Amino acid sequence: MASLPLSSLSSLTGKRLLLGVSAGIAAYKSALLVRLFKQAGCEVRVVMTEGAQAFITPLTLQALSGEPVRTSLLDPEAEAGMGHIELARWADAVVIAPATADLIARLVHGMADDLLTTLCLASEAPKLIAPAMNQAMWRHPATQRNVAQLASDSWQLIGPAAGDQACGDVGPGRMSEPEEIFNALAQHFSPPVKASGEISSRAPHIVITAGPTREALDPVRYLSNHSSGKMGYALAAEAAAQGARVTLISGPVNLPTPQGVARIDVETALQMHQEALRLAPQAALFIGCAAVADYRAESAAVHKIKKTDDNDTLTLTLIKNPDIIAEVAALPNSQRPFVVGFAAETQDVPRYANDKLQRKGLDMIVANDVSQQGLGFGSDDNAALLLWRATSGTEQLAAPPQTKKALATLIIRQALTLLPPQPSGALS
Ligand code: PMT
Repeated sequence: MASLPLSSLSSLTGKRLLLGVSAGIAAYKSALLVRLFKQAGCEVRVVMTEGAQAFITPLTLQALSGEPVRTSLLDPEAEAGMGHIELARWADAVVIAPATADLIARLVHGMADDLLTTLCLASEAPKLIAPAMNQAMWRHPATQRNVAQLASDSWQLIGPAAGDQACGDVGPGRMSEPEEIFNALAQHFSPPVKASGEISSRAPHIVITAGPTREALDPVRYLSNHSSGKMGYALAAEAAAQGARVTLISGPVNLPTPQGVARIDVETALQMHQEALRLAPQAALFIGCAAVADYRAESAAVHKIKKTDDNDTLTLTLIKNPDIIAEVAALPNSQRPFVVGFAAETQDVPRYANDKLQRKGLDMIVANDVSQQGLGFGSDDNAALLLWRATSGTEQLAAPPQTKKALATLIIRQALTLLPPQPSGALS
């Protein structure tokens, strides 16, 4: 099991957590989560839905939490101990992991038909939720509507991750790893840390996009690109190390979440667009490092596209995806973060980068020449030209080839230096 960051230990010590467990195969990971919370010095009380008990026994979670596990609203014996309203008031935070599609739907409708939903309705504590379900269920418009509603009801969504699923499918819907859920909660309670130097006395919230997007053509094929996520993850790690509160919106990549970073997994440009536009208005700094697909299939085929003997060519109709970073940059001033874009170019880097800086309305751009061997996509190293707006016009700084980690330090420092003074409330 991963060792705990010291900052998490202090931010969670003594916190009273209500952990809700619903009926998903990922329920076995809830046991690891209880251990992480206990190691960090939290008091943990677990509430299980009826279905969850088919996946993991209350006894396991009782042994790990050191407290009786509650499973029923109508249990007079348990209610005689700590009644459900008392339990709802007791919690400093409610964390649900895993959350099934059914539980999410019930929460959206404010149902109180079992102990867990009743507690969620009765508790005024911050609430975090880690969905877990089959990829088709996750993608279903009803689930997407429901999670959007939960987010606007102030629930903090953690994940889900994409990958192999217990049912044999591949795609988004896997519960985030316990360490990621733990990090998200630790970050929630972290006091703002002073950013480096004289830059800020309160820690800025930084939202970063990373990795590629995937645009489905049919159930087995997609359009994508070679982004590995390394540059964006290095930026997130560096920003967190400098004391910022970091949210990483990540396309499908094969990288661990940097310590202290809250990660939201997405697959398509539209999903990244939705998360970016939801989070950017609360951020002081937005960095678009993701290689977003400019186009998606007009309509993904429901069944696998078949090769036929009489068709030597195949025509796909693609439609434009929204320009995420341009929309963030066009937010009204009261909601607009400082916006840093990336430009992946193969020729005439300064000209094209400057053009993107102006056209997309950005404050700063990091241009990399992705035609250079060993730099850019997929590699551990990168080189870049940083361009930003200044009263005297555009200023620039050329960063020679170096590790993505070192380049990330330079980019974060430069962006924080340019960040305008934040009105109180804009930093959190
Ligand atoms: O992930 P790695 O393997 O580490 O590689 C790093 C990288 C090469 C992907 C990274 O350094 C990089 O250059 N990222 C931006 C890649 C890109 O898509 O560039 P672009 O020139 O097509 O887009 C310009 C800017 O607009 C980018 O900030 C991009 O995130 C944004 N964009 C693009 C299209 C779109 N629909 N929405 C966007 O927000």
